[in-house]
Amino acid sequence: MGSMIPYGRQSILQEDIDAVVEVLNGDWLTCGPTVERFEAALCDYTGAKHAIAVSNGTAALHVAMLAGGIKAGDRVVTSPNTFLASANCAEYVGATADFIDIDPETLNLSSDLLEKNWQADTRAVVAVDFAGRPCDMPAIAAIARNNGAVVIEDAAHALGSRLKHDGQTHTVGAHPWADMTTLSFHPVKTLTTGEGGAILTDSDELAEQCRLFRNHGMVRNRPEEPWYYGMETPGFNYRITDLQCALGISQLKRLDDFIARRQEITDAYNQAFQSLENLQTPALFSGGSSAWHLYVVQIDFPMLGKSRAQVMQELRELGVGTQVHYIPVHLQPYYRNKYGYAEGKCPVAEAYYEKCISLPLFPTMSDDDVGRVIQSVEEIMR
Ligand SMILES: Cc1ncc(COP(=O)(O)O)c(C=O)c1O
Repeated sequence: MGSMIPYGRQSILQEDIDAVVEVLNGDWLTCGPTVERFEAALCDYTGAKHAIAVSNGTAALHVAMLAGGIKAGDRVVTSPNTFLASANCAEYVGATADFIDIDPETLNLSSDLLEKNWQADTRAVVAVDFAGRPCDMPAIAAIARNNGAVVIEDAAHALGSRLKHDGQTHTVGAHPWADMTTLSFHPVKTLTTGEGGAILTDSDELAEQCRLFRNHGMVRNRPEEPWYYGMETPGFNYRITDLQCALGISQLKRLDDFIARRQEITDAYNQAFQSLENLQTPALFSGGSSAWHLYVVQIDFPMLGKSRAQVMQELRELGVGTQVHYIPVHLQPYYRNKYGYAEGKCPVAEAYYEKCISLPLFPTMSDDDVGRVIQSVEEIMR
């Protein structure tokens, strides 16, 4: 057995290290020009008008809630098939986190169910682009906006994904169907700054609000009193450092290469696994392109005659790391206890959860690594 192949991993080259060292040798470690350069680079890449870089993707979601005016008494709906943060951000502002089931094919929040189950107190939809595949944003936005709700696209998995609509291709972060788009730059994501995140928006007002909440709710608006800072609202310290942004700028130059390699590996997996019994590869997607944050297969464990824990252990012994994305968020102890959410609330996400397993996918995987994953999966599925 060679070394362990993790399910996700960053790519760091000497040029990334040099970029960070250059900032370390400079004047600004935080609140400096490299933050602004990273924000400009994110706007350049996506086409968004504004980017507000923050300390992580969870902070980005919290800031989006605050900027969107979401508060106690409001309902925020999201997908159960996501990381905790997509829902928790509602709880941070005293709103109620609620869940709409996913579509079994896209594994994203179902726009049909969103429409059918709309409740009058819903003020925001957090649409999560699971694994990198964009949600049906035009449909989601139409329903939300008809009802006066804010649309937040949680694109933590989807920086570099694209959405086709009416013959036009839009980059996630710069289409008309999200008021704000949030990103995460955690090391397993498509681009990393260590920890980090951002909010993208075309709205000048929302951008200003995001900047306010990122930095203690503080403004410096008296040029005649240059020491003055006024606190307009109790914001947070969600700032990102210049060091992190230097890494982000350097990484962004290779984002398209990262995604191309992710696509290549995905194609190899799809090809190899299509004939395996009891294993379902990710659904094809013709409505744009995915940045392929995750490669999730669904295995019928009872038919295979092995539990998921067994399969994960056997793969581990063959040097292949795996993960599970995600435990349906509505079934987390906090949400069960607070709202009485239980099994049966989102049956599609619950059934999907019984089957899902994420295989290694990251741009620095060698062809040998990819071959080893394929061989190992074939072996344990036999
Ligand atoms: C869908 C989704 N939203 C939000 C987040 C939160 O991002 P971060 O870890 O940068 O706080 C994550 C990260 O795992 C995520 O997967």
